[in-house]
Amino acid sequence: MQTDSSFTFVLFGGTGDLSMRKILPALYEAHRAGMLAASGKIVAVARHEEDRDGYLQWVNEHVKAHVAKSGVDENAWASFIARIEYVKLDLGNAEDFVKLRDAMQDLPSSRVFYLATGPSLFVPICRALASVGLNEHARIVLEKPLGYDLRSSNAINDAVGEIFAEEQIYRIDHYLGKEPVQNLLALRFGNALFEPLWRREWVESIQITIAEELGVEARGDFYDNTGALRDMVQNHLLQLLSIVAMEPPHSMDSDSVRDEKLRVLRALKPIDPREISRLAVRGQYHSGVIRGTSVPAYATEPGVKTDSATETFVALKVEIENWRWAGVPFFLRTGKRLADRVAEIVVNFRAVPHSALGASALRAGANRLVIRLQPNETIRLYCLAKKPGEGMNLSSVHLDLAFDQFFKEGQMEAYQRLLLDVINGRLALFVRRDEQEAAWKWVEPILNEWAASGKPKPYAAGTWGPAAASAMLAQHGTCWLEEEN
Ligand code: BG6
Repeated sequence: MQTDSSFTFVLFGGTGDLSMRKILPALYEAHRAGMLAASGKIVAVARHEEDRDGYLQWVNEHVKAHVAKSGVDENAWASFIARIEYVKLDLGNAEDFVKLRDAMQDLPSSRVFYLATGPSLFVPICRALASVGLNEHARIVLEKPLGYDLRSSNAINDAVGEIFAEEQIYRIDHYLGKEPVQNLLALRFGNALFEPLWRREWVESIQITIAEELGVEARGDFYDNTGALRDMVQNHLLQLLSIVAMEPPHSMDSDSVRDEKLRVLRALKPIDPREISRLAVRGQYHSGVIRGTSVPAYATEPGVKTDSATETFVALKVEIENWRWAGVPFFLRTGKRLADRVAEIVVNFRAVPHSALGASALRAGANRLVIRLQPNETIRLYCLAKKPGEGMNLSSVHLDLAFDQFFKEGQMEAYQRLLLDVINGRLALFVRRDEQEAAWKWVEPILNEWAASGKPKPYAAGTWGPAAASAMLAQHGTCWLEEEN
């Protein structure tokens, strides 16, 4: 559906990695699908290219390769390129912002400023925009990482908040833009079937995994100062957790949804530093083999310190202190260079209270819902059924819903959805400041404790992380999904 919201989309960091891999391809897809207002313009801002011709050449050389698996439609590409203007800008030069304002004079007045830059530039860019009056009628998009800890995140939010009102600020967490995450909301709140069971009386435990096969790629320097807890847990995993655990919102408007997510984040049981070794496992990958290819140890990756104590794997046991979830363990896990690329949510239901059908029906997890976010989007419901033949022997069976087979068209990448939301002024899938603060507050004791002592446990690349992550679940009489026989 084409939006009638005209826009000027200003892309800071226009020649950066994120612009090349995600933002420009997503804008192209939206354009190709006819979802952008015809008058909408993109103004790329960068230091490196001299002029528009140079920039378009860069786009042709670097962005095209990242566009759609289905290949580029040359006509659509040409009309997409025609939307792009370019402003060479040195952030340290106030005059250049006057140039930017002048370049935008005749462009649509509804403005989106996308800061695809490092967080240290967020505040200087916002101040410079305000100095030339460009903060009015504007939305600002901030990419993660938004700070390094609660203090630095507050400092950025305070400074940006002096220039932009909270309703103008779009903090991106691209996991919220993934189709299956939307589907989780549909599953929970659009059906009568699951919600009555979605609570401590019926749920024994929940697992949320985001596993990657990739290592740190070209980002060793950034990652070594960040680690998995900041890179994945503080944002993506806690956001997924809040969507899994939240109460039904009154409506899908942005604040109703975000209020409910915030309640979950504020109800996370604070981690007592003395308990961390029992509730949290950190690991770092060593060399190993993934899909038949040898991969190097983290500590030998470019940009990484050889004696690095940065974690590339985290597993946590989390509890939510409210009536719905009291006592139910939520096991969160993420890591690089693991055995598979998979993101999924596993809801293990309790066993039946009494089985007239033998002991196999008394196993927790015999009823289980597995919501797979990637690589392929599926929902799988496990039940017990009678094995054919003589006697009453039960066996696990499952019902599958594969979304790409059911809905053959209309799939949308996370960035495309989120960019369209920004252009159309929809905030529901963006992180509000108070959510972000609550998440930082919760992870900080772990960050502090880990910084103060010990080192991550080693794991071989191509495995599922340190054995301690399995031991943590074993204490609760359960195991990670892939460890089921
Ligand atoms: C990013 C992290 O936010 O998410 C990366 O910075 C990580 O380290 C990526 O690889 C994972 O996203 P996805 O969508 O590929 O699962």
